[in-house]
Amino acid sequence: MSASYTVAVAGATGAVGREMLATLEVRDFPASKVVALASARSIGTSLPFRGGELTVRELTEDSFHGVDIALFSAGGGTSERFAPHAVRSGCVVVDNSSAWRMDDRCPLVVPEVNAHALGKHKGIIANPNCSTIQMVVVLSPLHKAASIRRVVVSTYQAVSGTGQKAVAELDNQVRQIFNMAEPEVKVYPHRIAFNCLPQIDVFLENDYTKEEMKMVLETVKIMEDEKIKITATTVRVPVFYGHSESVNVEFERRLSANDARSLLREAKGVVVLDNPAEKIYPMPITAAGEDAVFVGRIRVDESQPNTLNMWVVADNVRKGAALNTVQIAEALVRENLVRVPDPTAFLN
Ligand code: A2P
Repeated sequence: MSASYTVAVAGATGAVGREMLATLEVRDFPASKVVALASARSIGTSLPFRGGELTVRELTEDSFHGVDIALFSAGGGTSERFAPHAVRSGCVVVDNSSAWRMDDRCPLVVPEVNAHALGKHKGIIANPNCSTIQMVVVLSPLHKAASIRRVVVSTYQAVSGTGQKAVAELDNQVRQIFNMAEPEVKVYPHRIAFNCLPQIDVFLENDYTKEEMKMVLETVKIMEDEKIKITATTVRVPVFYGHSESVNVEFERRLSANDARSLLREAKGVVVLDNPAEKIYPMPITAAGEDAVFVGRIRVDESQPNTLNMWVVADNVRKGAALNTVQIAEALVRENLVRVPDPTAFLN
């Protein structure tokens, strides 16, 4: 990577935005300049970067002049409003919100799975939902080997996926409960401390939540196979960092648990932790602060043929968000794709 780029992080003060800055720094992304953007509330805030500090500026339609790559993590509405203006300024956007994921013009990318989709980008590339990312990293090598027919997934998702306010809410509620005070409920519809919420995001007409349908629709788009059937139940649990998933996968062909372990040991971005005799399996505390997607508890589903169960865990703020976004930007640089073919493509 010899060229150097001006990079903006939109939503730099948030949980994911801060991790994006740390990831750009740790991975030595070829950025000659980094611009930190957030709402007017945060103007002047200092954020640590490369031993110095970045001063946060307000995100506006004009923030992207002279910017080559923008990483967005400031919510769907903000991306919908500002990403087209970034593209108009000739800036390539990698967006972590759900705003552009199912838009046909936007590739939805997990570099280990479908980096080739970047070749057709028109200025906005979408970063998938955190639960989807960690699942497809594991499913993709297995699909190539034995063709997936159906996936049944249940998630156990950390509060950091909701953002900094939710991290603070769990922290506060635990303290309040230990101090015999009534826990304050603001972010979630119910108390999250010492509880599990079978609702992530809003309910849709089909009685699934939006998060559940994201897993269904995004997986098919990333894996580029409409024959894969998926059903999901997504649950918020009182964990700060690290999403876990129980994944039941039915294949067209037989795949033994050992075959699956071997394939996953070879897979990029995956670490197999699977030794029941030694009580070794992935947990949120294993994954927090790590880049890899961890998989364990791989075993045959004895209730039907050609089916395996497994347990998949990853740091939702890293691989589930900031790291995957930066990896997409790295792939754009590597493939010489930091360019906007049509600056007006997303302007209505
Ligand atoms: P701010 O800190 O100024 O509110 P999280 O998901 O952790 O809550 O972070 C959300 C990020 O998105 C923050 O950086 C937040 O900035 C930013 N953000 C939210 N709404 C807007 C907006 N309308 N314009 C710009 N940035 C926004």
